[in-house]
Amino acid sequence: MKLNDELEAQFNDQITLEFESSLVYRQLAIEMDMADLPGMASWLRRQADEEIVHANKFIDHLNARGNHPRIGDISTGKLSVSQDPVKVFTAALEHEQRVSESVRELYRACAKADDIDSNPLLNWFLAEQIEEEATVDEILGRLEHTGDDGPGLLRLDDELAGRPNTGTEA
Ligand code: FEO
Repeated sequence: MKLNDELEAQFNDQITLEFESSLVYRQLAIEMDMADLPGMASWLRRQADEEIVHANKFIDHLNARGNHPRIGDISTGKLSVSQDPVKVFTAALEHEQRVSESVRELYRACAKADDIDSNPLLNWFLAEQIEEEATVDEILGRLEHTGDDGPGLLRLDDELAGRPNTGTEA
């Protein structure tokens, strides 16, 4: 069954936000490359790819429902950039918290409209957001433990370089 116009617009806002997330992570990756932390840069680029997977999942849902997916205006202009890894992963966590709230809003709107057919997708995203926030929060915690320990920072950088490339398809 087709989504009503309001829900279609809200899903399209989410598609736009997922593409914005991808660009936010690309910018954060650039900062880590500039700070000579290639493992963190690589991890952030992998995350940028994963955000495109998220956007594609929402696009596929609108297509399957007979709605029209549209990508809105995107900007990373509000992102405050820094080459300090703690600040970079703090920015990532704050962005994920914003995305989580947006998914919750979508969930609430679908529940209000009795749109049961969106439940499987939104339940997947609610669980995904818990995992994404937890992953970034853990990296941030480990960075904070590292403090001024240069070798410790480089070990964490090496470890994060191991994140596999899973592509951008949903
Ligand atoms: Fe698609 Fe990281 O939220």
